[in-house]
Amino acid sequence: MEKKCDQSLSGSKALLKEEIKRLKEEKGAVILAHYYVDGEIQDLADYVGDSLALAQKAAAWCGDARVIVMCGVNFMGETVKILCPDKKVLVPDMAAGCSLADSCPADEFAQFIAANPGYTVVSYVNTSIGVKALTDILVTSGNAKKIIESLPEDEKIIFGPDKNLGNYINSVTGRKMLLWDGACHVHERFSLPKVLELKKQYPSARVLVHPECKRPLTLVADCVGSTAALLDYAIKSDADTFIVATESGILHEMMKNCPDKTFIPAPPDDATTCGCNECNYMKLNTLEKLRDCLRDELPEITVDPELARKAMRPIDRMLELS
Ligand code: 13P
Ligand code: SF4
Repeated sequence: MEKKCDQSLSGSKALLKEEIKRLKEEKGAVILAHYYVDGEIQDLADYVGDSLALAQKAAAWCGDARVIVMCGVNFMGETVKILCPDKKVLVPDMAAGCSLADSCPADEFAQFIAANPGYTVVSYVNTSIGVKALTDILVTSGNAKKIIESLPEDEKIIFGPDKNLGNYINSVTGRKMLLWDGACHVHERFSLPKVLELKKQYPSARVLVHPECKRPLTLVADCVGSTAALLDYAIKSDADTFIVATESGILHEMMKNCPDKTFIPAPPDDATTCGCNECNYMKLNTLEKLRDCLRDELPEITVDPELARKAMRPIDRMLELS
């Protein structure tokens, strides 16, 4: 009886996936997906990547598509819309925000900038369009070090909104950037004692850490990097076990590329959470919502044209310097 039930569930899922593929063709759509969304959505996407690669793809590659569906969070959809103003940009769920972007309201960031005149403003891509419009150069976790190092050593820099990424970049470049006090709720909760405990259990495991994590965790890492950099490290490494301190969606691509290696998600501090380090915003992307959004061509990302014009400059500078 149970088996029959399982079969009908997987059968309806297979139909759903077929429907998504058909609608994608019919609508002339491409699907972009971040590494943090569910594996099944990643497998249906035309392109899966980190924030930097998704922006680069949108800028360079979506030429023929009429519709772009961004399976990720809203700031990613906004970035795609800014880069591709003539395309219809859809997201499966408009409620997919980002705690890091929310930790930096544009009006408060404007006051911070005004209180510190003479600074170059560098912002992480995890920001609203309003914050991007106040920014001189945008960065992602994949290019932040390179871009900061390309600036003169004595340049005074404001860095927002992620204090953990900012601290990490300060520590590896020797800069003294002035940091906005923002953070990501997923990356801040990884537990250093629990990672050290796992290291004792698996002494040869390599520790992979996203730079949005707190500083002590980065100090025990074998690799600190963007989602794409952590994936690349896991693929190229001769180690067979990895403790992964970033959102658990990345494990799908890691296991797909390295079926013989073992990936252990780093545990969070708080045992009352799900214990799986999922980004609740990324997980709002579901197969059903992806199907509905292709079918109805909604919800659509729209941006204020004047803000988009201003936000384009720091994005362009990032793409030039990457
Ligand atoms: P990446 O730039 O590594 O893709 O990370 C994006 C993000 O939202 C991390 O939380
Ligand atoms: Fe934002 Fe954190 Fe989710 Fe990344 S993991 S999208 S930074 S809330």
